[in-house]
Amino acid sequence: VISPVDSRVYLSREAFEIEQTQLFRKTWVFVGLKSFLRKQYDFIARTVGGLSVVIQNMDGKLVAYENSCPHKQMQLQWEMQGRRPIVCPFHGWSFDGDGKPKLIPHYDEQYKLTKEPFERACLKMFSVETIGELVFVNLSASPTPIDSQFGADLISRLIDMSAHFDDEVLQTKMTVRANWKLLLEVVRDQIHPQFLHARTLGPRRPMPVNKSRSNQFKAYSSSEVFDPASFVSPSLHELSGWGENVQEEKPQVWFDWVHRYGAQNCHQDTVLFPNTHMVCSTGGHSFSIEHYRPVSERETELELYIFLAKRKEERAADIAPIVPVILLSHAKEGQVFLDEDIAGVEGVQRGMEGGLPTLFGNYETENFRVRAKFAELYKAHGLGEVK
Ligand code: FES
Ligand SMILES: [Fe+2]
Repeated sequence: VISPVDSRVYLSREAFEIEQTQLFRKTWVFVGLKSFLRKQYDFIARTVGGLSVVIQNMDGKLVAYENSCPHKQMQLQWEMQGRRPIVCPFHGWSFDGDGKPKLIPHYDEQYKLTKEPFERACLKMFSVETIGELVFVNLSASPTPIDSQFGADLISRLIDMSAHFDDEVLQTKMTVRANWKLLLEVVRDQIHPQFLHARTLGPRRPMPVNKSRSNQFKAYSSSEVFDPASFVSPSLHELSGWGENVQEEKPQVWFDWVHRYGAQNCHQDTVLFPNTHMVCSTGGHSFSIEHYRPVSERETELELYIFLAKRKEERAADIAPIVPVILLSHAKEGQVFLDEDIAGVEGVQRGMEGGLPTLFGNYETENFRVRAKFAELYKAHGLGEVK
């Protein structure tokens, strides 16, 4: 089967702009963890659909606003995360949790605005939702309900899973010279580990045994044959989902000191469309989140979060001193695989420049479905026949 989109959509600025404005500014996008936002004035600033967006705790409520002052468009928060009221560094205007100006210093003597523009001088606010410990924003003026994007099954699974998240998080960021969509395609590709990760995993690694997969994220079995003619375009909630693979784990001493998620030795992948990949590894004792933020059609910012399952209160004294060491060793181990995946997608990106068609086998149905959804998106927004 030939890809429903051609490689142009991994190379063109026009396709990139459509993704930014029609996908990232109109859907629920993961931005971070609630544990970063527990206290008054805690904030995170992230780029969503090309805009800098701040999510901040204002009197216990999470609010989201465009990181741009209504006076001269100065960025209000300059760090990626921190704890600071909403005060503009340029001329000191401050804002409340509704985005309204609280204080404009020297207002009477220096500004002399009429009442009306003063009242309009509001931050641009966006919608925020949380699913368990995960925080999402939606930049649309009339966002779709978040459950229609992720589906009830996945949402209850995320709530359950994230109740097991520990608050101590190792964060790191890197630049990938490839289109963000390729990073998610490699996550859904079950054959590549035998080859791309052969040096790390050993060359004769058997195919992983699928334990269970969400309905929304189904892979075709080898007895079914995928037929593009009878293909029905997936709805948005069918592009997110999870898969579980059986994986033997070497027990570690700290496993007993945390609240394990699930009871089996599984490696669990969860994809939150459009751009987030969550992994539950070491049989439910630790987690990681990879967030792929598009920078341009050829560049992606990858942010990585690594954390353990929630520590048990009664073992807090034992585990606290070793958490940073465990997280660092996870990060080091994970980086080996991540570097191989990054080298892989960067190789694909370079290979795409010539514009040859891409082939899809049966095992890649998930990626085919996602590309078909993108084909619709581009077509609906004037990129013309992309195939
Ligand atoms: S630009 Fe923000 S107060 Fe002037
Ligand atoms: Fe990989």
